Amino acid sequence: MNRGFDRDRFPVDPWALREVSSSTSDVALTETLFAIGNGYLGMRGNNVEGRKAHEHGTFINGLHETFKIHHAEDAYGFAEVGQTIVNVPDSKVMRLYVDDEPFSIGDADVLEYERSLNFREGVLRRTVLWQTPSGKLVQIVTSRMVSFSDRHLAVMTMNVTVLNADAALVISSQLINRQDGHDSDADGVHPDAAARDPRRAERIADRVFRPGEYWQEGSRSVLSYRTNNSRMSIAVATDHTIETENEYDVERFVEPDISKDVYAVRARQGASVNLTKTVSYHTSRSTPTRELIDRCARTLDRTAAEGVAAQFDKQRLYLADFWERSDAEIVGRDDLQQAVRWNLFQVAQAAARADGLGIAAKGVTGSGYSGHYFWDTEIYVIPFLAYTNPMWARNALRQRQYLLPAARKRAQTLSEGGALFPWRTINGEEASAYYAAGTAQYHINADITYALAKYVRATGDLDFLASGAIDIAVETARMWATLGFWRSNGEDKFEIHGVTGPDEYTTVVNNNLFTNVMARFNLRYAAQIVAELTETRPAAAASMRERLALADGEVVEWERAAAAMFIPYSDALAVHPQDEHFLEREVWDLANTPAVQRPLMLHFHPLVIYRFQVLKQADVVLALFLQGDEFSLQEKTSDFDYYDPLTTSDSTLSNVVQSIIAAEIGDERLAMEYFIHTLFVDLSDLHGNTADGVHIASAGGVWNALVSGFGGMRDHDGLLSFDPRLPEEWPELRFRLTWQGSRILVTITATSLVARMLEGDESVTFSVRGDVHVVGPEAEVRVALSGQGPVRRANTHRAPHRREDGSVMTPSLPTGPIMLPTGLEDTR
Ligand code: BGC
Repeated sequence: MNRGFDRDRFPVDPWALREVSSSTSDVALTETLFAIGNGYLGMRGNNVEGRKAHEHGTFINGLHETFKIHHAEDAYGFAEVGQTIVNVPDSKVMRLYVDDEPFSIGDADVLEYERSLNFREGVLRRTVLWQTPSGKLVQIVTSRMVSFSDRHLAVMTMNVTVLNADAALVISSQLINRQDGHDSDADGVHPDAAARDPRRAERIADRVFRPGEYWQEGSRSVLSYRTNNSRMSIAVATDHTIETENEYDVERFVEPDISKDVYAVRARQGASVNLTKTVSYHTSRSTPTRELIDRCARTLDRTAAEGVAAQFDKQRLYLADFWERSDAEIVGRDDLQQAVRWNLFQVAQAAARADGLGIAAKGVTGSGYSGHYFWDTEIYVIPFLAYTNPMWARNALRQRQYLLPAARKRAQTLSEGGALFPWRTINGEEASAYYAAGTAQYHINADITYALAKYVRATGDLDFLASGAIDIAVETARMWATLGFWRSNGEDKFEIHGVTGPDEYTTVVNNNLFTNVMARFNLRYAAQIVAELTETRPAAAASMRERLALADGEVVEWERAAAAMFIPYSDALAVHPQDEHFLEREVWDLANTPAVQRPLMLHFHPLVIYRFQVLKQADVVLALFLQGDEFSLQEKTSDFDYYDPLTTSDSTLSNVVQSIIAAEIGDERLAMEYFIHTLFVDLSDLHGNTADGVHIASAGGVWNALVSGFGGMRDHDGLLSFDPRLPEEWPELRFRLTWQGSRILVTITATSLVARMLEGDESVTFSVRGDVHVVGPEAEVRVALSGQGPVRRANTHRAPHRREDGSVMTPSLPTGPIMLPTGLEDTR
């Protein structure tokens, strides 16, 4: 049930990830699992003493370097400028020496060990009892916190006590620019063998950080830089405070790429040494480093004045509020609860203080996917934020608004009107060098509008639209209107050709169902909010019309296109084809594909994969969820049954949606299986690449699967509705929602759904299986449930499948020599 999660090493604790025995065999994984961050600044869970690591990573959201993309065969409009997140100076290091022997967890005789990341405290702690080769017992307690309330601040403490003797202790606290070659500690991150894995970050061979001022004064050390190509600026400053009864000396030195504060303590038996390090990071696109240094100084001065204990208190309060708004509880299942909270905590760590920056695929926990923003944020993360921490959702959407000028330019390059958002980016420019599975994913534009709609519906925040966010919907609608075209064979149809849907194992196709359904939504929603704004905020609407030169005729055209949108359907198979030609392809025989050839993208040329009916991730099935009111239960069941066996889930995003639709159609077993997979994607490293960072979309998907899957929540047309699917094995599911400014607690059991108002003066209207209810301030509404929806125990789709032309679909595999990793036999 816990998908290989080692429970002896990571015991069940509903409020913390605890590790009670250390291992150096999987540091790459645990560095990610114990990473801390606030959405702006992130630090991997490296050991405080440095030494063995997969990647000594410290990341700042959006701080990137650019480079020219060299296409071997270039063509007009290909992405030109690559962008990659870089590793900012590492302030985590506090090396310890006892009688001149270095402490290194992997080589030390460790008698007691515990590392924990507490989700209510937001602090990573480690306690170690080390027996030195000479028999001295040294207790080392460390903590590390990246502040949620002050996003530029990190606090670290180290407490060392020699329990049974006197000893010479040295703590060397450092700040190291590892990006430019000072990573003598690392174990060789990004091994060549994996260089072809598209999920990893680019490596930049040239020096990235050009040093600016660097200095030390008293206990403060400062390093500052500008990035070589992108010309961004960064300053980092550290401060140290030591508390001890022991005598000590301190030596400091600074160079452009490193600063050290070295404390040499003559430690007496039992007398502790407490070293506190406060660190501030400030970054900018253009501000001179001189000014950033001043900002760092102000952050550190304020922290010193308030004291470190106050920072830990503020962190607790911040998180108390987060959990009060966001917790989702599987009552009676502490093992699952721990994993749920770890995932939700990861979303907070990725989003809370992004403050108008994007939310990257790995948040700030690793360099995977080069720190890029994809559609992941809008489809998997923003729904959770909109319903729990709306301000964070608003900030993330604001970022898309800021990127509109670049998106307009991109639309022009691609011969379209309006705005075309890049598939992957940091600075707004398209960074995807492989257009077929990148730029061609036009659906990202509708996904962004979908998230905007979700936020506006959940909050009622029309002011946000009025203040300019409406431009997102208008400009993307314009893009669809020019990308699509009219075709007539008696009946007028609006078609969209040459696009890629979410499933990247099938590219550049005509009438991808997901794209068409989402584009239809985008066109309708844009028309709807233009009308709504005109009615409720005429001045803002007029200024928008002028700003965007929007003519009434355009809006009418959007509605016409939406009404005539072509939605492919196969009568013979009674399913929605993923695209016009999808069903003509051969069917990939997944059941007989050796495990060593998964994920397919690492073992087969894209063309080989494209030739088959095989999915990287849910595509039609995702449309069934996002636009669920457009499909009947029967259609959902047929489509799910058809596509589920073809779906590899080589992308972690897929399981979320498969779980939700399986729940809706009554397949509790599959819903649970996919949910558990999502829950443990990172904790059990189920895709083998958690080393590169947390899968943030999948983490956000945990909430979606709980609330929309088992909780059966939807908000089609702005109406909050529930049709629960509580699994038999769970006694109770509880979650909190913020709806139009009021907060409610929803409790689902086998026999009832109870909605209780926690906060707010406005009543909340919702429906349960079609019946409308209203819960008022401080009140509670109990709705009796008879059963948990349809129950289905097996795939009902008939086999063998026959295409429209009568041909039978038989699963097959690519023929020809099979390339297996060396040393492995073909087990087919
Ligand atoms: C998925 C994309 C996703 C990206 C970043 C890929 O594996 O196929 O849909 O946006 O990962 O998470």
